[in-house]
Amino acid sequence: MNLPMLGASDAPLLLENIPALQDEVRALAAERGAMILAHNYQLPEIQDVADYVGDSLGLSQQAASAATDMIVFCGVHFMAETASILCPAKRVLIPDLDAGCSLADSITADQLRDWKVRHPDAIVVMYVNTTAEVKALTDYCCTSANAVKVVEHIYAQHGDDVEILFGPDMFLGAFVEKSLGRPMHVWDGECHVHAGIKPDDIGAVRAAHPGAEFLIHPECGCSTSVMEYVAAGDLDAEGVHMLSTGGMLSYARAHHGGTAIVATETGMLHPLRQTAPDTEFIAANEAAHCRFMKMITLPKLRDALRDGVHEVKVPREVADRARTPIERMVAIG
Ligand code: 13P
Ligand code: SF4
Repeated sequence: MNLPMLGASDAPLLLENIPALQDEVRALAAERGAMILAHNYQLPEIQDVADYVGDSLGLSQQAASAATDMIVFCGVHFMAETASILCPAKRVLIPDLDAGCSLADSITADQLRDWKVRHPDAIVVMYVNTTAEVKALTDYCCTSANAVKVVEHIYAQHGDDVEILFGPDMFLGAFVEKSLGRPMHVWDGECHVHAGIKPDDIGAVRAAHPGAEFLIHPECGCSTSVMEYVAAGDLDAEGVHMLSTGGMLSYARAHHGGTAIVATETGMLHPLRQTAPDTEFIAANEAAHCRFMKMITLPKLRDALRDGVHEVKVPREVADRARTPIERMVAIG
């Protein structure tokens, strides 16, 4: 009888094997001339071995200026695609090609094409959490770190009456509308992880930790209601911070001590606690776990580097069209 065998990369990772694997990864990265980029939601042992850890905007900026011939992207597929579009001459690898994103899947190129037909004069702003095909139909990309700035820039360039199609995240769209006081056409997509952080979660942690500060990712399902609590005076605006994951780290660097409730994917707790060990960081919802981000493991990273496999390559004609909105996003910063 043939029993199914676990591949070396699928076997459970024993804690005692982590340092040796990390040494192997670092040695292979040096040998291959590769830069390892990791998103803030990556597993701690991946973050600790990366050359740069950051949010989507920081990662795009790092990729755009990378001096190495190879980038290994520890994140999800659209992030590696974005790096490949920005650096067409480099090899971009991802340790698991199946690491997708529910938000990127919430709008297809055909759906965006139809939307544009219904609004032929509109400027299209898409979150960087989209496929390369969607970016190729987009005027400006943005991340949670610069969405407000990007839309502000469009109003400044095209006038206050310009029509904007914003997608695919409806909570980020609502945050931008509220911040700038102007309506846009907002796609009704969401990230299943962030949408799962509900107003009730905020109510419960607020009751358990009165006086705590709130760090809230604008993709969260609770973000709109938190803005409403603030507007109604139920929450002190001073203690509520709507931030990208990079913005949360800047907050941690500037504010030591006290308690902060963190409403985003729970991987974020690791870099926050490393940055400010004297601050108590509490998850708004312990179940906010992105299984796609956690598909990247040390053995898979080692295998990708060792075997030079799992390259992410965007067809040239798509990449050439998708580059402009990404470069605009990186330039606005
Ligand atoms: P940022 O790290 O850019 O805030 O994005 C969060 C996210 O969900 C990435 O998939
Ligand atoms: Fe996509 Fe949500 Fe996972 Fe981020 S947390 S990669 S938006 S599914």
